[in-house]
Amino acid sequence: MEPEEVVERYNRVIAPANRTTYFPLVPVRAENAKIWDIKGREYIDFLSDAAVQNVGHNNPRVVKAIKEQVEKLIHATYIYSFPIEPLLLAEKLVEIAPIENAKVSFGLSGADANDGAIKFARAYTKRQVILSYMKSFYGSTYGAMSLTGLDFHVRAMVGELSGVHYIPYPNCYRCPFGKDPKTCNMECVEYIKEKFEGEVYAEGVAALFAEPIQGDSGMVVPPKNYFKKVRKILKEHGILLVVDEVQSGMGRTGKWFAIEHFDVKPDIITVAKPLGGGLPISATIGKAEIMDSLPPLSHAFTLSGNPTAARAALAVIDEIEEKDLLRRAEKLGNYAKKRLEKMKEEHEIIGDVRGLGLMLGVELVKNRETKERAFEEAKKVVWRAFELGLIVTFLQGNVLRIQPPLTIEEETLEDGLNILEKAITDVEEGRVPDDVLEKVQGW
Ligand SMILES: Cc1ncc(COP(=O)(O)O)c(C=O)c1O
Repeated sequence: MEPEEVVERYNRVIAPANRTTYFPLVPVRAENAKIWDIKGREYIDFLSDAAVQNVGHNNPRVVKAIKEQVEKLIHATYIYSFPIEPLLLAEKLVEIAPIENAKVSFGLSGADANDGAIKFARAYTKRQVILSYMKSFYGSTYGAMSLTGLDFHVRAMVGELSGVHYIPYPNCYRCPFGKDPKTCNMECVEYIKEKFEGEVYAEGVAALFAEPIQGDSGMVVPPKNYFKKVRKILKEHGILLVVDEVQSGMGRTGKWFAIEHFDVKPDIITVAKPLGGGLPISATIGKAEIMDSLPPLSHAFTLSGNPTAARAALAVIDEIEEKDLLRRAEKLGNYAKKRLEKMKEEHEIIGDVRGLGLMLGVELVKNRETKERAFEEAKKVVWRAFELGLIVTFLQGNVLRIQPPLTIEEETLEDGLNILEKAITDVEEGRVPDDVLEKVQGW
């Protein structure tokens, strides 16, 4: 079958709300950082299934764990019985999470983990208001969508939760206050105080939801001392800090959780994507007294705590520990970042390179002074890279997303970076035609 035929059939029976298209990839097989398509073509994967394959596609330890588990017990709902696998996973998660005396609630996706966090935070504090960030992304369920600060047009169509207020994310490349990070007064922190003086009653706020690195807005990394300062303000008003580690967690940035780069201990952490190594499982991890604040069955899903997904997750954690993937993410991330910074010196179109570990963003601009976003060029780069055998996408329309598996071989990483540079050069030199623009939708 031709990839184009598959795409056409998709369009006939799959709701567009589920997806977006960058290129016609029809994957049939994958191993570590490589994917093969229906025509047998090989690709290097810089996307990791949207930051899912931290330990690599079809990681042998994960495959073995899943096989062993499905032979014994595919599923037994932990709503009514006590399967061992989710217990072992919860014990492991509370051990690695930077929260003392934590408990866990399992779900199936990042979005439902965030919905859980909303409920736990509201129940515990007996407050309703939630603070969130402009351009944040928390997922597609009603609760997560209602906190999301990225896309409001869908909410205008379908409605939303009430009681959510937004603050600007600390973005030093595109400072929302027009400041220079070298001389600023951290207006992004001051703004929160002003918000409490003029708009939101602080003692009515249950929690601030934050991505420690804002992923879908283009891998935006806050200044090192940002969360400490924010945490202090939150504490003064009894407001919880919920960090969404759905994209940045499980070793992606060189620590188990990205918030650890900022020396801050949150009240609640949400994880999903890479946790199950490709199987659907999420976790809301929070201080025991917070997690005890909801009554039985008030956040329960029949398939959550699924033993097979839990076994896969335990294998993911073992793999990260035994292969020392936190160190590897840091090392390869530093290397890739340096290489991308070098590319920046040679390619005018690259306005900024940022990120931590293997969670990197390359922002493409039409002009380095005005920072006008290079939307069309980004579409052409991902298309050309795909033609050349590299899977890379963009966020915010112009930020290339570099998130390979933490297990990627050094040569493969190098090959992928070489392809990326070739794609950028081809776009700069006008070798990618305009008709590509209609084929790439993206996000
Ligand atoms: C930071 C963050 N939170 C939550 C989600 C939603 O996760 P899921 O798609 O598993 O519901 C995503 C997905 O992209 C994400 O990047």
